[in-house]
Amino acid sequence: MLVTLKQILKIAEAKSCAIGSFNSPNLESLQAILAAAEELNQPVILMHAQVHEEMGLCKMDEIAPIMLFMADRAKVPVCVHLDHGTDLSYVHRGLELGFTSVMYDGSALSVEENYANTCMAVETAARYGASVEAEVGSMGAREGGDGDGESIYTDPDTAKWFVEETGIDALACAFGTVHGFYLSEPKLDFERVSKIRSMIQVPMVMHGGSGVSTADYKEVIKRGIRKINYYTYMSKAGAVAISNKEYGQFHDAVNDAIAAIKEDVKQAMITFGNL
Ligand code: 13P
Repeated sequence: MLVTLKQILKIAEAKSCAIGSFNSPNLESLQAILAAAEELNQPVILMHAQVHEEMGLCKMDEIAPIMLFMADRAKVPVCVHLDHGTDLSYVHRGLELGFTSVMYDGSALSVEENYANTCMAVETAARYGASVEAEVGSMGAREGGDGDGESIYTDPDTAKWFVEETGIDALACAFGTVHGFYLSEPKLDFERVSKIRSMIQVPMVMHGGSGVSTADYKEVIKRGIRKINYYTYMSKAGAVAISNKEYGQFHDAVNDAIAAIKEDVKQAMITFGNL
């Protein structure tokens, strides 16, 4: 059942848990994520990241119709979300294709430019009945861990102003997580999460969900994180499952990878959903 981000995050708010938000850059990851969600009877967010196209993965125009088709048929609530749309034209295309939620990512811009572009994204998304996530501060490295950015933690006063003036539905905050593999153990700024939560009226999003300890997931969820973006470790689980075997058939390798990704996603859902 296809839902918006606003609708799915209401479920998270009511249960004081977080919804797992997983990148699905190909059919196999989509199958694994939805199988995990249906098996655990959990709402789920499927994400297409703009940056994955640069890594040779599916184009939005190819994968979006499949994401939407499968989300619609799923037995659990599914939001189909555009992750880190850095161009307004790309965000617009996502809305045209039917995404029920988009993230406009202006975190590399000045706060004024980020604000102005986010306002435009909110106005456009409203015409499609879709939700909008935006980011204040910066995660630094992008998905896959590349990018030269240094992390700039979200300032609570700026976050309050930004949320109130843009009318976004969810706020991505930087407080110590990064995309991709961690080079050293992440040290999360829990006080910052609580402070921002006390000042804004919309759910908070944690990006860079891979490699965080179970205790830290629990702590940020307790302090108000309602959406956790997760990809690197589920992708690694698929790779590890097929790395030491010899396959005669490609489809056997694919099926083993899907099974491993599904198990990894299930574990993440159990933690995020307080199951
Ligand atoms: P990881 O790279 O930590 O899995 O995070 C994914 C993410 O935040 C996508 O937006």
